[in-house]
Amino acid sequence: MITPTTIADAQATNGKASGQPSGGINGAYGTCAFRPGLEGIPAVQSSISYVDGKQGILEYRGIPIDDLAHRGTFLETAYLLIWGQLPTTEQLESFSHDIQYHRRLKFRIRDMMKCFPESGHPMDALQASAAALGLFYSRRALLDPEYIRAAVMRIIAKIPTMVAAFQMIRKGNDPIQPRDDLGYAANFLYMLNEQKPDPIEAKIFDACLTLHAEHTINASTFSALVTASTMTDPYAVIASAVGTLAGPLHGGANEEVVSMLDEIGSVDNVKAYVDDRVSCRQKIMGFGHRVYKVKDPRACILQKMAEQLFDKLGRDRRYDIALEVEKVVEDRLGHKGIYPNVDFYSGLVYKRLGIPDDLFTPVFAIARVAGWLAHWREQLEENRIFRPTQVYTGAHQLPYIPIEERG
Ligand code: CMC
Repeated sequence: MITPTTIADAQATNGKASGQPSGGINGAYGTCAFRPGLEGIPAVQSSISYVDGKQGILEYRGIPIDDLAHRGTFLETAYLLIWGQLPTTEQLESFSHDIQYHRRLKFRIRDMMKCFPESGHPMDALQASAAALGLFYSRRALLDPEYIRAAVMRIIAKIPTMVAAFQMIRKGNDPIQPRDDLGYAANFLYMLNEQKPDPIEAKIFDACLTLHAEHTINASTFSALVTASTMTDPYAVIASAVGTLAGPLHGGANEEVVSMLDEIGSVDNVKAYVDDRVSCRQKIMGFGHRVYKVKDPRACILQKMAEQLFDKLGRDRRYDIALEVEKVVEDRLGHKGIYPNVDFYSGLVYKRLGIPDDLFTPVFAIARVAGWLAHWREQLEENRIFRPTQVYTGAHQLPYIPIEERG
């Protein structure tokens, strides 16, 4: 239970630790320090996921991420996150069947996507298409469990189809219809590459989705929560989260990691590249995290998966560059707690699976939809509209100057 006292105490401690707060307000919870980016300020009480950034622990509903990534599937994980417990065999069968049933897109949505400019970023296409679902499924019955269940199914089922459809459309082709005999991950790779993936590729991609499915109150989840708290429809919630995920400081980083490795070009250039960025105080993509001060546990798992994939499909020279970048960055910035985050190795895995660079972030969205929906449900259970306050820094009581007298 979070009490006013613990918030005030936490803020006092946080303030002392970083020396960052500037300004403050007096409110119901005592004196609150202003913290840029709301760092360390609890926005919700949640039982969905847990992160220990010092020890590198991530759990979904109490289950370690390593177990879910290696022993579970993405759909099992999505069920766990959204409905609170691992499904039984019957529950999983019924969930998978419903998702399969809802995979197809209405022809009007496909036609709408055909009008999008081919040069547009796939995240923008996804955001627009996700929002459009609200037009086609316009009934809003947030207190009806059946409405909630159907919306969850539709969103999880249709988002991958939308991502793959835009990829086909911008190449000048018709979207490929989902295949009922393929699982969730395999079907997405099939709709994208027009061929059935090898089972190991499908398994690794499925595990990548599990690793990206949820991560407490990050920027896109917070955005989803704020939108959800107005009691709007779930399609608006997801569209708003997709828009937030698109930024390079959040989901967009994995795309930039691959460009960075290409720009570095060879292992010999790594030291000079990193030193140059560090001396210019520029960020190195795929490193650093607001919460983790050690190597992100998801990066550790993804790195092993990348190696597994390279053993099967052949090594990617970018991987050797990445290993050297990790070594040099750790040497230069490890003392600040800057280590690889989830995005550092995910781009390399996606690249090897034949996923185009600008689809890396949409793929992140396919996975994170599970977490967004879990938080949407949790928010609805005890909703209060988000309405934070501000520390006003402007002037007061200035005179109104008529336009002809303004200089
Ligand atoms: N490269 C170099 N220095 C860094 C990096 C980095 N990637 N990240 C943080 N720092 C330094 C930063 O310069 C600052 O140094 P100083 O205290 O000397 O001014 C210090 O570490 C704290 O940085 P910050 O930007 O205040 O930290 P934050 O908690 O606000 O930012 C972050 C977290 C993820 C936005 C940031 O680390 C970053 O921009 N990383 C690169 C982009 C990236 O990989 N994003 C993916 C994040 S993980 C997936 C997700 O959440 O979507």
